Amino acid sequence: MNETIDLMKRHISVRRFGEKSISDEELREILEAGRMASSWKNFQSYSIIVVRSEEKKQALYDLLPQPAILAANVFLLFVGDLNRAGKGVNLHSPTFHPEGVENLLISSVDASLAAQNTLLAAESLGYGGVIIGVLREVAEDLARLFDLPDYVYPIFGIALGEPAQSRPPKPRLPYDNVIFEERYQEQSREVIKEYDKIQKDYAGDRVTTTWSERLADQFSQAENPVTKDYLTKKKLL
Ligand SMILES: Cc1cc2nc3c(=O)[nH]c(=O)nc-3n(C[C@H](O)[C@H](O)[C@H](O)COP(=O)(O)O)c2cc1C
Repeated sequence: MNETIDLMKRHISVRRFGEKSISDEELREILEAGRMASSWKNFQSYSIIVVRSEEKKQALYDLLPQPAILAANVFLLFVGDLNRAGKGVNLHSPTFHPEGVENLLISSVDASLAAQNTLLAAESLGYGGVIIGVLREVAEDLARLFDLPDYVYPIFGIALGEPAQSRPPKPRLPYDNVIFEERYQEQSREVIKEYDKIQKDYAGDRVTTTWSERLADQFSQAENPVTKDYLTKKKLL
């Protein structure tokens, strides 16, 4: 249809990278484009920590052994950030209440929109990447590694670099199971089973569990308290 839409529809997460470096100039352009995402009241409640040094990537990998972290040319750590907001608030008010679910949504959504823009900008220059969210499991270690102060929490990172893999894009749920006209339409279990098959056909032997088994892994038990504990410690809950 057009170049932008074609690019978006070609997206795949890339976890293996070649040798080519993203130049400082390209990275700056990628991040400036990423930062043009909309944000709640233009508060831009996030920060991005650029990790290029081998020592920091290694330290990160030691905490979280995902090969894409080590192989990436650049790792971008997206943190939800209400610390800056506190400084603004204190110009006008002695009280500051960053804690709560709504504020977490504000900062997480702002960061997510900027991150998606960033990844897309990188893809438009021929680079690839993967968002890495499991790092929330080691949030406290990350806070130490990156000097994260109160009111700042890691949301995810993006490992970026020259793609060293290609495959067809992963099929999404069928359009009509996600996009509804005028009112919500609850879906049947058949829809889930159908998508399990679509995913199986796509992934073949590369993936040993079905899509719904992965849903069960994630949602059949109470969440790991590590994120809540971290957010409480950083005065966000
Ligand atoms: C918030 C978020 C966190 C993610 N965390 C990880 C991760 O920790 N490790 C990983 O390999 N992929 C991670 N991914 C990538 C997803 O697995 C991937 O986007 C999804 O399977 C769809 O595949 P595609 O991006 O190739 O279309 C994450 C994606 C998102 C949006």
